[in-house]
Amino acid sequence: MIIRPAKKDEVKKLQKLNASVFEEDNPEYDADLKPGWGLSEDGKKHFTDLLNEPQNCCFVAEDNRKMVGYISAKPKHFDYRKSKYIEIDNLGVIAEYRKQGIGRSLMDECLKWAKNKGYQKIFLVCFSKNKNALEFYKSYGFSDIYASLERDI
Ligand SMILES: CC(C)(COP(=O)(O)OP(=O)(O)OC[C@H]1O[C@@H](n2cnc3c(N)ncnc32)[C@H](O)[C@@H]1OP(=O)(O)O)[C@@H](O)C(=O)NCCC(=O)NCCS
Repeated sequence: MIIRPAKKDEVKKLQKLNASVFEEDNPEYDADLKPGWGLSEDGKKHFTDLLNEPQNCCFVAEDNRKMVGYISAKPKHFDYRKSKYIEIDNLGVIAEYRKQGIGRSLMDECLKWAKNKGYQKIFLVCFSKNKNALEFYKSYGFSDIYASLERDI
């Protein structure tokens, strides 16, 4: 297993990876999600922008040249807070490769990258029903800071 930076020409591979990592679970957490987003034109734009903006970070995990997980992060500006923040945009490992330390290795690499760039805090948003991911983040030292709420109008 290797962890390496994603390359600019890997947009399609990341779209497919996103679709296989997230699309079976996420509708349970958010009924308002667009089905097929990862492989759509919006998904393509998302990953193209991610890989082309030099201030962003994206690492992939590869097993025998098969992409099995990724983490992406972008600067986050909180006007009213003191520290310099990076936000995890996405972290995912395909189901058959979970619980083997790959998520942790991706997070380690992202934290090393962020520390080198002078970031002081790492922030993320997670579906509140995604108990597995919340356990993972808590085991990594993350703690609750905000709750996001919504309702129909
Ligand atoms: C969350 C996710 C990335 C974790 O990746 P992973 O490769 O399975 O995690 P690891 O094997 O590196 O586990 C790291 C630690 O988290 C803990 N952990 C991982 N999955 C867990 C789970 N389902 N329940 C409880 N703890 C868990 C492990 O105990 C481990 O701790 P340890 O190193 O002390 O043993 C993975 O489950 C995933 O891709 N989920 C679907 C996508 C998703 O929900 N992403 C998060 C979006 S916010």
